[in-house]
Amino acid sequence: MQRWTLDLDTLDWQASAEAQAACVALLNGELAAVPTETVYGLAADATNSVACAKIFEAKGRPQFNPLISHVASAEAAIEYGVFDERARKLADAFWPGPLTLVVPKRPSSPISELASAGLDSVALRVPDGPVMRFLSEKTGRPLAAPSANRSGKISPTRADDVIADLGSSISFIIDTGPCAVGIESTIVGLTDETPRLLRPGGLPREDIEEVLGEKLSGAPANMRADAPSAPGMLSSHYAPDAAMILNAREASSADALLSFGPDQIPGAEQAFAEFNLSPSGDLVEAAANLFQAMRILDSSGANAIRVQFIPNFGLGEAINDRLRRAAAPRS
Ligand code: TXA
Ligand code: MG
Repeated sequence: MQRWTLDLDTLDWQASAEAQAACVALLNGELAAVPTETVYGLAADATNSVACAKIFEAKGRPQFNPLISHVASAEAAIEYGVFDERARKLADAFWPGPLTLVVPKRPSSPISELASAGLDSVALRVPDGPVMRFLSEKTGRPLAAPSANRSGKISPTRADDVIADLGSSISFIIDTGPCAVGIESTIVGLTDETPRLLRPGGLPREDIEEVLGEKLSGAPANMRADAPSAPGMLSSHYAPDAAMILNAREASSADALLSFGPDQIPGAEQAFAEFNLSPSGDLVEAAANLFQAMRILDSSGANAIRVQFIPNFGLGEAINDRLRRAAAPRS
């Protein structure tokens, strides 16, 4: 596996040899680990079914969940999906950025059935940051990319995380340092009259509702992103090895502590290990640190990870969603 460490402040990325090589590899149906502003993605040409199948194989996904296709612009997205007034508004307001829109698939769309899991809808996103966008623009292909972790594991926000998890199944990784947002995109479903929040993520629900001029509905269980595969079974996505205890009221010397904000819970100073997601209580900073903090505390050797209460507004909704999944019974 090759690791290409790029400094985007000084490098002319689009003209670089790495950019050219990455395009050739993607057009040849190879997988590439590519940074976005949310998390690192495991990218493949979304129009190439064999390449998409390699994604499922590398991730060890138990079933063919549909994948997000990443494109360079809203104009490109409209070639693959049907954009109504609401979709256009959201694309105008938030792309490029941490928002994925699930819209009806165009009958002429060349996106592989495997990427859209045979559904008549398609998930599209224009990511921020130049790497993924340019690769899509230059190859002329939508790029299917789930988070670059093995299925059920914590999403990668740094190249080292990707290599630890998937190093043996990818040919190269583009390393541009830690991801700025650090939590996956917010997914909004626009396939019928009711706009739905399919997954809370890096764009707060409140911002979306303001632009839409209406509230987002919840998603029925079978439409939720990361829906449990079998009824009655909670999906243990983002699972660390240590047990997770949410809304802990006090710390313990046997357990690690994932804290938030300036207020310490009783016993915090005796915790086995501690990571404060944001000492000042900033939810944006907390989201950016979340997955890294879970990795660090998970490898501390503590029996369990206790998590301090985190408010549920703004990015807190996505943070709490990921923490609940991490705490769910392991399947
Ligand atoms: O920030 C992100 O969204 C990252 C980066 C790499 O862009 N990607 C990501 O992909 O989180 P992934 O595969 O881990 O999650 C995509 C979710 C899946 O859980 C899937 O269920 C949902 O998107 N999804 C994709 N297509 C869908 C569709 N047509 N209808 C409903 N949900 C869909
Ligand atoms: Mg994922």
